[in-house]
Amino acid sequence: MATGLLRMRLGPAADEAVTGIVARIGTSTRRMSRMVEQILDLARSRVGGGIVINPTAVDLGTVLAGVIDELRTAHPDRSVDLRCPALQGSWDRDRMEQVFSNLIGNAIHYGDAEHPVTVEARDEGHQVCVDVHNHGAPIPSALLPQLFEPFRRGERDSRATNTAGLGLGLYISHQIVTAHGGDIQVDSHPGDGTRFRVRLPRIAVARCRERLT
Ligand SMILES: Nc1ncnc2c1ncn2[C@@H]1O[C@H](COP(=O)(O)OP(=O)(O)OP(=O)(O)O)[C@@H](O)[C@H]1O
Ligand SMILES: [Mg+2]
Repeated sequence: MATGLLRMRLGPAADEAVTGIVARIGTSTRRMSRMVEQILDLARSRVGGGIVINPTAVDLGTVLAGVIDELRTAHPDRSVDLRCPALQGSWDRDRMEQVFSNLIGNAIHYGDAEHPVTVEARDEGHQVCVDVHNHGAPIPSALLPQLFEPFRRGERDSRATNTAGLGLGLYISHQIVTAHGGDIQVDSHPGDGTRFRVRLPRIAVARCRERLT
């Protein structure tokens, strides 16, 4: 918020070098705050007895559209297609945003920029199913068995400086989906790209503090 205010005060005629520095402060602050949140979630899942969810009435279509809008603002050059009927259920809205922001954010980061990311949700009666698909290089087969463990990253991505993640996004997403009584699966093959499939029971039941590993 402070960097936004600063940019407004600097006005449109501000020196480009200065607005560039302000933008970098904003980006770094958001990245640091996301990392701190992720480390706290890791601590909650390992020490605090698991990630606790608070299910309320939610339309998953609205959640997905909101997450995609936010990601489109951050990546205006990328295209994300959403196919989703109205999907009413009982889930933890903030945690659902976190899961799909991780999965769709990953598809944008690691997928081929020449192809759109597609997000497709289906109503399966007692459960809902959401597929997030991207084209591009597959996830290395050696990484697949540990993909949902903490601090796992593709070797190439750990070296890249433009995607400074911790390797916690999928671990936390898996913990959240498991806490809802659902599951996440991944399919990743050369030529077909990568598809993450999330299945959630229509009505998630709040669990008491128990260890979810
Ligand atoms: N859609 C995808 N396509 C290709 N590789 C992927 C995809 N999603 C994840 N990966 C690989 O799996 C690794 C782990 O992903 P995860 O989201 O857990 O961590 P991260 O994106 O590296 O960091 P963080 O999410 O903590 O910022 C990534 O580093 C990347 O190598
Ligand atoms: Mg990630």
